[in-house]
Amino acid sequence: MPYHGEHLSVLLNETLDVLSLRPGELVLDGTVGGGGHAVAMLERIAPDGRLIGLDRDAGALEVAASRLAGSPGRSVLRQENFADFQRVLDELDVAAVDAVLLDLGVSSFQFGPSGRGFSFQHDEPLDMRMDVRGGPTAADLVNDLDERELADLFYTYGEERNSRRIARRLVEARRGGRIETTGRLAELIVSAQGQRYRGRWQRIHPATKCFMALRIAVNEEIESLQRFCDAVVERLNPGGRVAIISFHSLEDRIVKTTFRRLAAEGAIELLTRKPIVPGEQEEAANPRSRSAKLRAARRLGGSRLHHST
Ligand SMILES: C[S@@+](CC[C@H](N)C(=O)[O-])C[C@H]1O[C@@H](n2cnc3c(N)ncnc32)[C@H](O)[C@@H]1O
Repeated sequence: MPYHGEHLSVLLNETLDVLSLRPGELVLDGTVGGGGHAVAMLERIAPDGRLIGLDRDAGALEVAASRLAGSPGRSVLRQENFADFQRVLDELDVAAVDAVLLDLGVSSFQFGPSGRGFSFQHDEPLDMRMDVRGGPTAADLVNDLDERELADLFYTYGEERNSRRIARRLVEARRGGRIETTGRLAELIVSAQGQRYRGRWQRIHPATKCFMALRIAVNEEIESLQRFCDAVVERLNPGGRVAIISFHSLEDRIVKTTFRRLAAEGAIELLTRKPIVPGEQEEAANPRSRSAKLRAARRLGGSRLHHST
């Protein structure tokens, strides 16, 4: 399904400031999405700086490609998990880059009617894979995990307090047939929560946390981020910067602890002691930005590595 509408890039000016890009630099955008950050970064590194953009979602890459068409020949896009960025750089014969950005999570396009069931707002097949070329779907997890595993998934990735009750309800319900749609799953979670969904007046929908937890598990989001954070410094030129925008406490913890460890080892200097968060104006204009946290660091020492694209 083609993507419609607009995705508002979160913490855009703050990201550009902290990355302090210079003309001619080589940038890796590991979550190119709708291309909002990428377009702005390409402007900063103009006229001859280049950008490598990755995204697991083929639809997002189509949107990015059309937005980046204004700077022909200056970007390369690949459908890849950013956790595999080292292999992509090897394939492109790039030893190291000058700046890296991750803007985690999902884009507004994916939360809209994507046909993949990222949101309970649309009754769709329970898929939730960003990359539909392989791996288990959300329906596979909901129908195949045992009760304990399901409860742990909702608790660990969604911090859902009623995880056990919800898991029990799902396991009971699936005796009558597989749970295949977002509508059916949301209905079961709401009934297990023992409270009626009171529409937009309720602060968050009772299924929000479980849906987020399933998406994180399906896409192995935590493992991907940890692999990326562990390796990123090796492929940054000395003085190179990395910025990561997270939307979830588990993600932010990984970024914070990995950056602190690397700083203690003398590999990087922290550019943000505390995370940068959106101001009131951005929060009001873009509710999705509310949980955003930006952390950044600069690589120290070492010799400059040659790069080419
Ligand atoms: C918040 S959006 C990025 C928006 C983009 N910065 C912009 O300004 O338009 C996050 C994107 O990251 C992608 N994504 C999430 N996890 C990924 C991963 N492990 N590897 C590659 N892309 C990923 C999603 O498919 C989504 O398109």
